[in-house]
Amino acid sequence: MSNELINRAIKIIEKNDFGTYTIPTEKLYPFQWNWDSCLVSLGIAHSNEDRAWTEIETLFEHQWSDGMLPHIIFHERDDGYFPGPEVWGTNTAVATSGISQPPIAGFVIYQLFKNAQDKSMAKERASKLLPLVAAWHDWFFEFRDPASTGLVSIIHPWESGRDNSSDWDEALDRVPSNELINYPRKDTKHINPIQRPTNKEYGKYMALVELFKKHKWNNKVLHDVSPFQVVDPGFNAILIKSCFEIGCLANELGFSEISEKSFSQSKKSLSALETLWNESEGQYSCFDRKSKTLIKSHSIGCILPIFANIPKERADSIVSTILKLEKECKYLIPSHSPVADKFDSSRYWRGPAWLITNYITIIGLKQSNNSKLAERIINDSITLVEKSGFAEYYDPITGDPCGGKTFSWTAAMVIVFLKYKSNTMLQRDS
Ligand code: GLC
Repeated sequence: MSNELINRAIKIIEKNDFGTYTIPTEKLYPFQWNWDSCLVSLGIAHSNEDRAWTEIETLFEHQWSDGMLPHIIFHERDDGYFPGPEVWGTNTAVATSGISQPPIAGFVIYQLFKNAQDKSMAKERASKLLPLVAAWHDWFFEFRDPASTGLVSIIHPWESGRDNSSDWDEALDRVPSNELINYPRKDTKHINPIQRPTNKEYGKYMALVELFKKHKWNNKVLHDVSPFQVVDPGFNAILIKSCFEIGCLANELGFSEISEKSFSQSKKSLSALETLWNESEGQYSCFDRKSKTLIKSHSIGCILPIFANIPKERADSIVSTILKLEKECKYLIPSHSPVADKFDSSRYWRGPAWLITNYITIIGLKQSNNSKLAERIINDSITLVEKSGFAEYYDPITGDPCGGKTFSWTAAMVIVFLKYKSNTMLQRDS
């Protein structure tokens, strides 16, 4: 069974492969997305290490001169997606969006390096990528944390990767909505609109894009002019982990300056993350930098910090929080708690389960010695795919597929999970 599933997963990634990059899925997302590519490369690496490195290299070929790594690279024209390159108007050689996405590349590169069969190729390719990733991390600390608190803001919900999470609702209230403008949305032509953001949300997303474009995508001013500045604990945890991992990689490759700086960035941010801990909820909270308030929410973003090396007692509390969610839905992990007011089981990031956030949580559970719960989440993930195919996301109550079909990162996570399972079985047998 598992070989059959792995083969199906490989076929999906091959179908979405454009030679040097992989699209998330046809029609809905016909370009290269930043954190999708990174996570997809982990799946590709199991059958083709060379191609896995290329995936990340292609992404970094489009890094901005200030260090920013864009969230979309519009390699080839395709009218199936809105907002396309002309709307962003970033004026790059190959068109890109003007915002970024969760910085998982550093973590992924170290994974590719550690698990490589071809060590000399890994050394050569990781050495070239290392300074680029370090520059991207520096960019975050310089431009998204102007007060040097150790924590970075996202200035657009799309940067979080959890686009329409209810975590952003209050901060988005401050953004004037362009909802009356009839944007030519394409997503709702491909997907049932009840599984996508509302027009009101889209109006706000577009208002932010237009504001940043008015400021010519100048990162020196964007953070401060943005009415939306939110510190997302999940996003910061990914940055903390990536800084730590490239610190280790740089150490092994003999880049001592990058190593020291990355460890110190990771250390400073990890201690700043403590300011977001919410003891009564047993998880972290998002922070609205404009209103200076913690955002009350029960989202996966507040659980993801287990991915960073948080203190043991924090990890234990997060495990209890996940175990509560286990009683509230059939399939872990919902992107919002099913008992929260705004929970919506099929709408994008307002409730559904996603295999990529499962993966990030699983890494955290494994490193904090919670392998049993990690295995439970792996099993749920596989069951979802067996039941409902390689969907973009899943209803955590019914297990029904939602969003796009034949999704690359879902396929990649299946490969990674099934390999884990067979390794664990091997360890048990020996
Ligand atoms: C959606 C997701 C985002 C992802 C993109 C492409 O916008 O919210 O995280 O990168 O789709 O799959």
